Amino acid sequence: MKNKILVTGGAGYIGSHTCIALHEAGYEVVVYDNLSNSSREAINRVSTLIGQTIVFIEGDVRDDELLREVFASHEFFGVIHFAGLKAVGESVAKPLLYYNNNVSGTIALLEVMAEYDVKNFVFSSSATVYGDPETLPIHELSKRSCTNPYGQSKLAVEYILEDLAISDKSWNLIALRYFNPVGAHPSGQIGEDPNDIPNNLMPYISQVAVGKLDKLSIFGNDYPTVDGTGVRDFIHVTDLAQGHVAALSYLEQQISPEENCLNTAIAKQTSAKSGSVGFLPINLGTGKGTSVLELVTAFAEVSKQPIAYQFVERRAGDIASCYASADKAQALLGWQAKLSITDMCQDTWRWQNMNPNGYQAS
Ligand code: NAD
Ligand code: UD1
Repeated sequence: MKNKILVTGGAGYIGSHTCIALHEAGYEVVVYDNLSNSSREAINRVSTLIGQTIVFIEGDVRDDELLREVFASHEFFGVIHFAGLKAVGESVAKPLLYYNNNVSGTIALLEVMAEYDVKNFVFSSSATVYGDPETLPIHELSKRSCTNPYGQSKLAVEYILEDLAISDKSWNLIALRYFNPVGAHPSGQIGEDPNDIPNNLMPYISQVAVGKLDKLSIFGNDYPTVDGTGVRDFIHVTDLAQGHVAALSYLEQQISPEENCLNTAIAKQTSAKSGSVGFLPINLGTGKGTSVLELVTAFAEVSKQPIAYQFVERRAGDIASCYASADKAQALLGWQAKLSITDMCQDTWRWQNMNPNGYQAS
């Protein structure tokens, strides 16, 4: 058994898939989640899939007393911090909730980590920190700017991590900037389970396909893109999960390369030395843009269901195109996305079909 990892937000969409990938890579996982946007059923299903009961602690990252108990009872190599609120519209209506949960929550966690001298941290950042990009593909050094409290909360945490890295060289802080995560585990047992009507494109399309929603509204068909609809870098959630495993192996390699010569190629490539990583932002995307209409067409083909849609006004705050340069992830982590848009649609459709009401039905 390799190192033990605390996974905050591990009951959520990306966290649950990452728990499986971590287990498969030999890590021991402890999940810490307040279930504010997830269900215990996700944890049960992950346990069934891996054939082992996941250690689960129901708690809030702002609860520093409970966090201390957790750190006192486990010896962690590091923390993957998924816990956070993510609905852009809600963040505009409730900015204090978002800053409190996402920023204060992260500070509370980092403080307890420092007390217990656990200084390896992988943070769920987002392509949202790039705002409306000046050039494409988006590189890690592209300008950052945000227009809504959700995005600002991610950016604020990135600034905090940068300052922390400067103040104390023993921190190893990776910010993974996800592009547009979609898809589900190939078993169809876990997937994205949005509350109410989905805000994001893929879950909306799949609910139209399964008959829960009548029609997709496509926000704008007059963007300067291939067909006038928005272009995004959709990435399969299991590829994304592997990105976290790669980030942890990178940290292990950097901290003690001699003891962790699992990937000597990476060590050579990055001239790994024993020491600190500091603050390291890395894009996790495929590097390919797909338009809204292209995704609708791909989903209709895979599901063999018609996807009714209508064009409506652009959504406020939306950008025309967004896709990653994934070169840094490839060079440093030896990671690259493998799965196609067809895979993303197939796995989403299987999950949607097997669980028309998400985790609630069971
Ligand atoms: P999710 O809502 O499914 O998972 C987040 C989990 O964190 C949930 O299980 C929730 O209950 C838990 N949580 C929230 N606040 C908490 C708190 N204070 N204490 C403990 N647990 C708490 O979301 P996701 O899609 O899995 O996203 C995971 C992370 O990745 C989030 O930080 C999100 O902002 C970020 N992210 C997501 C996307 C995306 O499109 N899904 C894109 C970029 C970044
Ligand atoms: C949105 C958030 C972003 C967040 C990301 C993941 C906004 C402005 N941005 O990104 O901050 O990190 O989700 O949670 O909310 N679309 C439709 N009809 C729909 C839904 C979406 O046409 O019903 C279009 C959008 O206009 C966009 C594309 O589909 O062009 C993708 O939208 P979405 O899935 O919401 O992701 P983002 O807008 O990229």
